[in-house]
Amino acid sequence: MKTKVICEGGVRIEVPLPDDSSCIPSSSTGVFYNPEMELNRDITISAVVGFIKDHGLDTKSVSYADVMSASGIRGIRMAAEVGPRCCLNDWKQDAYELIQKNIKLNGLEDTCTSSWQNANTLMHRQYFDIVDLDPFGSPAPFLDAAASSARRLLCITATDTAPLCGAHLKSGIRKYAAVPLNTEYHREMGARILLGAAVRALARRDKGVRVLLTHATRHYVRVYLEIIRGVSSADDALEKMGFITHCLNCGYRSIKYGLATHLGSICNHCKGKLQAAGPLWLGSIQDRDFCEAVLVELETKKPGKWKQAVKIIEFCRSEIDVVTYYDQHWLCKKNKISPGPIDGLVEALLLAGFYASRTHFTGTGFKTDAGLEQINILLRNPGNKR
Ligand SMILES: C[S@@+](CC[C@H](N)C(=O)[O-])C[C@H]1O[C@@H](n2cnc3c(N)ncnc32)[C@H](O)[C@@H]1O
Ligand SMILES: [Zn+2]
Repeated sequence: MKTKVICEGGVRIEVPLPDDSSCIPSSSTGVFYNPEMELNRDITISAVVGFIKDHGLDTKSVSYADVMSASGIRGIRMAAEVGPRCCLNDWKQDAYELIQKNIKLNGLEDTCTSSWQNANTLMHRQYFDIVDLDPFGSPAPFLDAAASSARRLLCITATDTAPLCGAHLKSGIRKYAAVPLNTEYHREMGARILLGAAVRALARRDKGVRVLLTHATRHYVRVYLEIIRGVSSADDALEKMGFITHCLNCGYRSIKYGLATHLGSICNHCKGKLQAAGPLWLGSIQDRDFCEAVLVELETKKPGKWKQAVKIIEFCRSEIDVVTYYDQHWLCKKNKISPGPIDGLVEALLLAGFYASRTHFTGTGFKTDAGLEQINILLRNPGNKR
């Protein structure tokens, strides 16, 4: 395996050279390294610092595990930039050896331990305050062990967006024991299906959650779940599970809480057929105070991708707590009108007395508590008030 040393977030990491000059990470190089995930790692570092500060924890007493470390870059950055005790694990021998080299390269032998085993074995054997799940594709096979291992914070990346969003329906059903639906808010659909599966895995361990941050960026979804131990917290979390019913014809949608619940089949708006998605997480997906704490850290540290990171987290912070978003272009096409500026539409909704915000999920999306009828009226006549 040919390697080179790169710098990211103040650490030096030996990483494999890609097979060709395209810079696309390849599995045939032996150990995975994706420079594009620097943004994800920058946000992770600030999120963990924000979490530790919010909870008044002594950083050195906190344990963090990147249970799928590849080159070890995430855990090494965590150790060097934040300072908890870090466990860097991978089941590939090449990766394990590279992790050991990279720990030495950065003089972090006192803070970091390396481990070479199946992530599920590690997580069933050991508890960590913070567990980071960063697999290839779906985290579903690791949720049960992660729910057992994580004491305070669970961070999950999922790159299997097609199954999560309903584009690969059967695969999504198999992985997440839930039915996703491919709608214009498919990115939020994916996040809520993932969160629903994580919440159910945690509930099996008598753990509830507070979802601190959710972002869907490029080809992945990333979620941060604070774990609240105890049966009543687990029960509370399950009460925020439920279903979305959606009309593919007109875009009408509604939500229904509960795991055993009766779902309507006729659209209130156009009398078309409603489709159901779920069970999925219907609770909040962003915590404003936590986003604030992450932003403070990003602004202070200014890591490599801080401008992009700040943009994402600012959007997350301003998102109103409403399940699903509308896509302005989709609605305008339905209404046979051309879309104006999205900020103007949000402004018009606010002026009309509704809650409204843009969303980080897509540039053409908006969240609102206005009903479809009211949105359509406003889209056609932006000056209207309620
Ligand atoms: C996407 S990479 C991790 C990237 C790394 N966390 C980072 O930030 O650069 C996924 C890694 O998981 C490892 N892996 C896959 N399945 C595993 C398992 N069951 N147990 C442990 N490691 C596993 C792979 O060898 C690979 O190195
Ligand atoms: Zn309809």
